[in-house]
Amino acid sequence: MNQYQKPMLKEGSLKDKVIVITGGGSGLGKAMTTYFLELGAKVVITSRNLEKLQKVTIELEEKTGGKVLPVQCDVRNYDEVAAMLKATLDEYGKVDGLLNNAAGNFISPTERLSANAFDTIIDIVLKGTKNCTLAFGKHWIDIKQPKATVLNIVTTYAWTGSAYVVPSATAKAGVLAMTRSLAVEWAKYGIRFNAIAPGPFPTKGAWDRLLPGDLKDKFDMKKKIPLRRVGEHQELANLAAYLMSDFSAYINGEVVTIDGGEWLQGAGEFNMLEAIPQEMWDMLEAMIRSKKRKS
Ligand code: HXC
Ligand code: NAP
Repeated sequence: MNQYQKPMLKEGSLKDKVIVITGGGSGLGKAMTTYFLELGAKVVITSRNLEKLQKVTIELEEKTGGKVLPVQCDVRNYDEVAAMLKATLDEYGKVDGLLNNAAGNFISPTERLSANAFDTIIDIVLKGTKNCTLAFGKHWIDIKQPKATVLNIVTTYAWTGSAYVVPSATAKAGVLAMTRSLAVEWAKYGIRFNAIAPGPFPTKGAWDRLLPGDLKDKFDMKKKIPLRRVGEHQELANLAAYLMSDFSAYINGEVVTIDGGEWLQGAGEFNMLEAIPQEMWDMLEAMIRSKKRKS
């Protein structure tokens, strides 16, 4: 096993923290939840599908010995978010962290989208993050809780933009702006805001919608990544746990990219020269030097 596939923080790093993970019943949300539990947190996992959450609760409680509260909550609906916060407080008496992880996304040429399709993604990602952030933030400010942490999952196209996932890119850009804005505005209340921008981390939810059918084979994601591999769930969980923990107490308003260098490979003007074989460089150098002598 590689070092990055192993748990990173010392035992008890999240002891007695209560953390809500939206979309905590699948994919990356489940991986981060598992590690939070292993580090001693008490968690609430939320999504639209209560049955799925209940199954995951049993699985994770057995695996980690921790405490999980499953709560059905569509993040698009503020009343449901307020009820989810109340259920959290009724169960645990407090909440210390919010991980805005729930998302909706699918690939499509934008002109094929109905207005409702575009809205659906914006509502889950941007409005959902806003609903949770506002409800939890107001609560923390009202009760004068000394400290709290919000961690938002975005992605690298929050700042580059991306064709064919335009509603998601638009919404994630909004989430990143919210992260940086509130990091400043609510620091006086002791609330820290950070974001993680993952590159490709295979999950069923994302791959079914972003690489359906044989697109998986046609567009091998590894080839787009300088480190030539996709992300491992544990390395994301390590980063999320650190940003949720008090070890990162001075990190506020940051977005941490974890993508093996993927977005920079797409951005650098001459990165396509990666395709040039080593043995060609002697010839190319000679050609360049000869031009310099003549001019
Ligand atoms: C065009 C589509 C569509 C598609 C749905 N719609 N799928 N339009 N192409 N493939 C349209 C519908 O026709 C409808 O519009 C509107 O979108 C809403 O669809 P519903 O099925 O009613 O919505 P809902 O049941 O709320 O489901 C939301 C969903 C679904 C986003 C469409 O995929 C979902 O539940 N996703 C949750 C999980 C998820 O997406 N995970 C991936 C995250 S990955 P009309 O006009 O007909 O009413 C991720 C990775 C980012 O974010 C970065 C990767 C590197
Ligand atoms: P996933 O398994 O599909 O996770 C999405 C979660 O969001 C699901 O648990 C889903 O649960 C929940 N959800 C969707 N709509 C919701 C709603 N309206 N209300 C409440 N919950 C809702 O996909 P994933 O890959 O783990 O993605 C997790 C996060 O990582 C997302 O923010 C995604 O944008 C981000 N990300 C992923 C990748 C990647 O490569 N996987 C890369 C960059 C960023 P229900 O369906 O049960 O509601």
